[in-house]
Amino acid sequence: MITVLVTGGAGYIGSHACKALKAAGYTPVTFDNLVTGWSDAVKFGPFEQGDLLDRARLDAVFAQHKPVAVMHFAALSQVGESMSQPGKYWRNNVMGSLNLIEAAVDAGCLDFVFSSTCATYGEQDNVVLDEDTPQKPINAYGASKQAIEEILEHFGTSHGLRSVIFRYFNVAGADEEAQVGEFHQPETHLVPLMLDAIDGKRDALTIFGTDYDTPDGTCIRDYVHVMDLVDAHVLGLKWLEDGKPSRVFNLGTGDGFSVRDVIQHSNSVTNREVPYTEGPRRAGDCTKLVSGSARAVTELGWDPRRSNLQQMIADAWRWHQSGHYEK
Ligand code: UFG
Repeated sequence: MITVLVTGGAGYIGSHACKALKAAGYTPVTFDNLVTGWSDAVKFGPFEQGDLLDRARLDAVFAQHKPVAVMHFAALSQVGESMSQPGKYWRNNVMGSLNLIEAAVDAGCLDFVFSSTCATYGEQDNVVLDEDTPQKPINAYGASKQAIEEILEHFGTSHGLRSVIFRYFNVAGADEEAQVGEFHQPETHLVPLMLDAIDGKRDALTIFGTDYDTPDGTCIRDYVHVMDLVDAHVLGLKWLEDGKPSRVFNLGTGDGFSVRDVIQHSNSVTNREVPYTEGPRRAGDCTKLVSGSARAVTELGWDPRRSNLQQMIADAWRWHQSGHYEK
């Protein structure tokens, strides 16, 4: 079996990636510090608890498992928090990733799949967001991810590291079999907050800003089903295995939905009303983030067949009713 080191494998996207890797015949080794991840979510391969800031621990894990590739999900990812505590984001995301990249290169593990974000594009007026769009992040989270992309580029030139960088749009939904799902503590993401509000697990949802320059005044996002997203990662791994060059891919569908659209879909999928109030804007939020690229479809053969709001909310709702994790 071919081993892949999955940082953040105990988190939302990483745990789904481990499931997809196992299904594709790989052994996913999770490396996670459990600050935001859950040991309960590690179900598809070995678990190594550790922190990316601990270089000796990383070296030991590379030596023990001898992975042929790294999938790097581990990161702090809250846009709002990154604006109040930017130091945390630069230290954890950038310094942690630099440690990991150096450890991978020193171990001779030169295939690297990286979770980046459309937050690196920032606020762009009437621009189609494709992979060549100049990156202008407006929050520290996006800036930290852009910095890691640049580190990967330099290590490619100097050390032969080959990377596939995925710039995610908004990830939602859950494993259709509900073995793993989305569970953050604290939760900040729209879909799980909405589902919590529907079944009374928390107060009404607050819509962050109703005065944006969009048809209904709320922010627009491009939602991707988490299982489609992780399928793309397996294709990215095969791309590198085939000896193809480093490449950046947007992972979005090209369809934009406002916060009010997402609420309406949730009402119809769950047959319940999302209780909500309208509040001020949240710092760091972009008005509209929608992918303008089909590169992943044309070059990787990616098929985001589950990425419609109906299925994403239905799968998230199924998980929501059955699952949560403990450390
Ligand atoms: N929103 C609300 N109320 C809430 C939570 C969110 O109105 O209580 C709104 C946000 O303002 C935004 C939309 O719902 O317009 C989606 O918000 P999320 O917090 O779910 O997602 P973000 O768009 O802020 O960020 C997510 C990931 C990031 C990633 C980004 C790319 O958390 O890691 O998508 O758009 F970079």
